[in-house]
Amino acid sequence: MNQQQRIIDSVATYRRDHRERAWVNLGCGKFPLDGYINVDAHEPSDVKADVWSLAFRDCGVVRMDHFLEHFSWRETVPLLELVRGWLYAGGMVEVEVPDMEEIMRNGSDFHDWLRYVYGSQQHDGEYHKAGFTINSLFDALEDAGYHEIKVRKFVSGFKTRKGMPCLHGTGRA
Ligand SMILES: C[S@@+](CC[C@H](N)C(=O)[O-])C[C@H]1O[C@@H](n2cnc3c(N)ncnc32)[C@H](O)[C@@H]1O
Repeated sequence: MNQQQRIIDSVATYRRDHRERAWVNLGCGKFPLDGYINVDAHEPSDVKADVWSLAFRDCGVVRMDHFLEHFSWRETVPLLELVRGWLYAGGMVEVEVPDMEEIMRNGSDFHDWLRYVYGSQQHDGEYHKAGFTINSLFDALEDAGYHEIKVRKFVSGFKTRKGMPCLHGTGRA
């Protein structure tokens, strides 16, 4: 079993064992997830609000799929710290972002290169303001006080970003 498979398996085990706590999906966009409290400032969702105005407690999982890059890089750590405060001790944050190192390396070979870099820009919440590498995402999670941090690279198969090089990071509060 390789390192990536181990990370995927440990996340799956965690999810199975922590169903009794609240799970939050920040920036759900047009893809709310079953079993989560879906939050978005601009799209219909369970909680339609700006993330900075919210205060959850004792959450088991806070997930952010293609959300963190929509904030200034100066806000990366404060936002991860805010979320850590919502988790119970041992709760998990899950972050997925574009892998900017890989995107820059292959540049305009990607059909959707400009959207990968700048965001879809369909509304105010859809602009990219920060980019991440495997190391910078790890460091941001560490600086925000998470432990047991793991970050892996993968290529997305999701319908709106098929082929996009991405990073998946997890950490525990
Ligand atoms: C690229 S979409 C991600 C959608 C979905 N999670 C996915 O995986 O495709 C980012 C979402 O974050 C939302 N968003 C941006 N800034 C926000 C904020 N300050 N508070 C809450 N939601 C915000 C946007 O409205 C947008 O729907």
